[in-house]
Amino acid sequence: MTLLASLELLLLCIPILAAPSSILDTGPFSWPFFSWFTSPAGFPDEVAVLRLAPFSDPAARAFLVNSSALPLVDFDLQESYAGLLPISAEEGEARKLFFWYWPTSAPEGSKHLTIWLNGGPGCSSLMGFLQENGPIMFLPGMDKPEYNPEGWTTATNMLYIDQPIGTGFSAGPASVRNEEDIAEQFYGFLQQFYTIFPELLSKPLIFAGESYAGYYIPFIAHRILHASQEEQARQAISVHALLMNDGCYSSGIVMQHAPTPAFARLHQATLNLTTAQILELEQRRASCGYDALLAQIRYPPAGKLTLPNNVDYTPYECDLTDLFKQWCREANLCFKEEKVGQGCLKENPLDTYFSRSDVQSLLHLPPSSWSECTSHSVYKSGKDESAVYSETLLPELVDRLPGGVTLWHGVLDALLLAEGDRLTIQNLTWGGEQGFQEEPHTPLYLGREKKGLWHEERGLTYVEVYDAGHMVPQDQPEVALRVLKYVLGLDGL
Ligand SMILES: *[C@@H]1O[C@H](CO)[C@@H](O)[C@H](O)[C@H]1NC(C)=O
Ligand SMILES: *[C@@H]1O[C@H](CO)[C@@H](O)[C@H](O)[C@H]1NC(C)=O
Ligand SMILES: *[C@@H]1O[C@H](CO)[C@@H](O)[C@H](O)[C@H]1NC(C)=O
Repeated sequence: MTLLASLELLLLCIPILAAPSSILDTGPFSWPFFSWFTSPAGFPDEVAVLRLAPFSDPAARAFLVNSSALPLVDFDLQESYAGLLPISAEEGEARKLFFWYWPTSAPEGSKHLTIWLNGGPGCSSLMGFLQENGPIMFLPGMDKPEYNPEGWTTATNMLYIDQPIGTGFSAGPASVRNEEDIAEQFYGFLQQFYTIFPELLSKPLIFAGESYAGYYIPFIAHRILHASQEEQARQAISVHALLMNDGCYSSGIVMQHAPTPAFARLHQATLNLTTAQILELEQRRASCGYDALLAQIRYPPAGKLTLPNNVDYTPYECDLTDLFKQWCREANLCFKEEKVGQGCLKENPLDTYFSRSDVQSLLHLPPSSWSECTSHSVYKSGKDESAVYSETLLPELVDRLPGGVTLWHGVLDALLLAEGDRLTIQNLTWGGEQGFQEEPHTPLYLGREKKGLWHEERGLTYVEVYDAGHMVPQDQPEVALRVLKYVLGLDGL
């Protein structure tokens, strides 16, 4: 199935989430327990090969992966740890998440632990691992994985996790109803993970992810922040920052429908749309009340932004995303909503690679069928029954996390639109004020090249990345690494 094809199923939501409050603070950092040495002769210079000091718990050894033995990989890689861990300590717990832990290859990267989550719902984070920010890249058109010099392990310890249950290599029956259940299961998994890898507990977490992970991540971070005193006494997990690209945080009206006509006009030629189609979209934008909504994007905002008729409901004729994508597909056989102008893709090696039994056994997995995105809902009822959108959790997270929240978006993403992030941000109240007071305008340069623009106020950073679609780290790996380093405090923007 195509990437994120189920994304449109999501956007429902109404009432209120009760938030008990408790304080969780950043623990002391622990210093690297690794030793580094530079590449032995015969390996690419950039690949610093890292030997791990063994984790203290002997159970950790069962998860050790000889990464250099990954099929089709003909260069040396640092050792990693992978396998399944249950979401609770209950005996016979059959519900397990898959993890793959990669220690950083750079000494300065050992301070934090960065968790990467892809979206869907139901898409494996191995997508991100192999095609966005992992230490190796295996993209359509390549015949084997290549070393990725912009891999995020060059800046931080990385932990890729397949969740919720029903996703990727995770195991057991799907049982979540909503994002709170997802956060609860994730928290349970983390407790099991830290029991086996206690040395990682002192490393403040960065939660990074894409797309539907824009829903998962704030709920998970909120769950950790509001852990009970007893839970905190047992394991003090600290969250440093959130980093979400091309995410969903708000209603379909905000993230997709209202901004669609302007996006269509901007990319009309590339998308091969007719002027009559553009005019039709614009006419509906007016009649559906979206013009009035968009007119409320101001810096600073004039007050809370209101949805058309003040309700979060999209009548059929106002589902502009669906109409837009249908026209795009009709006008261009190779239309991919992940990136405008991407063209026809070669076959994707992802499914084949992770379906290999040698790969699976190296990762300590039983023989499993694998696909990048599940065709079954990961939610018990078939849909996410969350009471609120993740945007409602963002203000507290921005205010309380030492490294704040960074939202970033590829401007060629047709699945979720950058303008939707701007709408979302201008309606948030954090740090005592609503929205950005100033319109984002600061260019982001890599060398002399302008690669996007960015803006930060009161702990919330927004970055727009040029020439990038939905999967920003795949399309603009250097920019992505720079944004990550900014969040880690290792670089500026
Ligand atoms: C790891 O795999 C590589 C490549 O297959 C092999 O040369 C090496 O001996 C293995 N290391 C260990 C410790 O098994
Ligand atoms: C803005 O936020 C308020 C709650 O603070 C919400 O009721 C309203 O629907 C939001 N507006 C949009 C456009 O999402
Ligand atoms: C553009 O759309 C027209 C139909 O409107 C179609 O005939 C033509 O083949 C399309 N061009 C491309 C490059 O897809």
